[in-house]
Amino acid sequence: MSATLLTGAAGFIGSHLAERLVADGCSVRGVDAFTDTYAPAQKRDNVALVSADPRLELVTADLARDDLSGLLDGVDAVVHLAGEPGVTASWGTAFATYVERNVVATQRLLEAATAAGVRRFVYASSSSVYGPEIGPLTESAVPRPLSPYGASKLAGEVLVGAYAQQRGLSTVSLRYFSVYGPRQRPDMAAHRFIEALLDGRPVPVHGDGRQARDFTYVADVVAATAAALTAPVPTGTVLNVARGEPVEVRELIAVLAEELGVAPRVERRPERAGDTPRTEGRADAARAGLGWEPLTDLRTGLRQQIEWHMHRRLATPSSALADALRSSPVPTGLRVPVHEPPGGFAAEVVGAGSDAFREAVRWEAVR
Ligand SMILES: NC(=O)c1ccc[n+]([C@@H]2O[C@H](COP(=O)([O-])OP(=O)(O)OC[C@H]3O[C@@H](n4cnc5c(N)ncnc54)[C@H](O)[C@@H]3O)[C@@H](O)[C@H]2O)c1
Repeated sequence: MSATLLTGAAGFIGSHLAERLVADGCSVRGVDAFTDTYAPAQKRDNVALVSADPRLELVTADLARDDLSGLLDGVDAVVHLAGEPGVTASWGTAFATYVERNVVATQRLLEAATAAGVRRFVYASSSSVYGPEIGPLTESAVPRPLSPYGASKLAGEVLVGAYAQQRGLSTVSLRYFSVYGPRQRPDMAAHRFIEALLDGRPVPVHGDGRQARDFTYVADVVAATAAALTAPVPTGTVLNVARGEPVEVRELIAVLAEELGVAPRVERRPERAGDTPRTEGRADAARAGLGWEPLTDLRTGLRQQIEWHMHRRLATPSSALADALRSSPVPTGLRVPVHEPPGGFAAEVVGAGSDAFREAVRWEAVR
């Protein structure tokens, strides 16, 4: 049976898509370079469950540097999610990495996909290709990226268009809008906010918190991407993948704090270059072309993400916590976030309360 090549398979969105495709009965060849943009260990955790499935073959390779011949043997469709993400980090000398991972890697993969004669090539583009217009944005808006990251994603999208027009590759580019959910990258807003709230730290907010983002839940993004593999749309199609309901960052924090039962303290930081005041995408074209509908409201999606953060903390208690638990149990059934710089962790612990434990690990109840 022919396989789908999924690049960036160990990443935030890629690992969810790997699970979805495997659950749909597809054979998947996942490829990832496990770059150190954030902890490769998190990426290994992302794919830990699905890599046990015989329908997933996981290959470690760098699309920008390694020989790609053979990678597409037996492959009939490609989903290209691999790349260097992040608006803020893309200024300065770091841009060379963005060019390598978002532009060079994409062009090399396009060559390999064309040579292999794949049926469909789906590219993960970004709302960051748009300019300062506040929207709602349709795909016909003139792209004017505000950051080097956006420029590199647009370059990838333009290359995809060129291979569609000139080399006969059947392509779909999807412009994802602020994706959130379990396994979200640590540099992204909801991830940073949840970790700060769980640690009892102030929530770092760049600007006045009134900037709005069209937060789109990862399972909805995955559904659109899976649909793009077979949807009967013209080659070179570009589609927004957006929920279409922008939410201000300060409201995001309020919902998270409410869900966690804590009072947030906000720490204002300067605005960051490349951050747009508002993103709002119209996804009518994706609805029509992919038969797609974003189904997950913000609160429901954030609950899923919070759950992931809690479980991750429970699964990785530090040795300091383990030692503290051995020597000093805490009240029965309490869920406690435990502060331990730099990362912090949490535990569901059972036992009798003690000041020594409190002192040792600086715990406080969340609920
Ligand atoms: N998360 C979002 O909100 C969002 C929004 C718009 C677009 N996107 C795009 O979606 C894609 C996935 O984003 P994500 O948030 O899951 O990021 P991620 O960093 O979690 O996943 C990307 C994966 O690609 C891998 N990778 C990077 N360079 C590679 C290379 N040269 N060869 C092989 N593997 C490589 C990384 O190791 C990583 O696991 C990216 O292309 C990103 O630009 C994401």
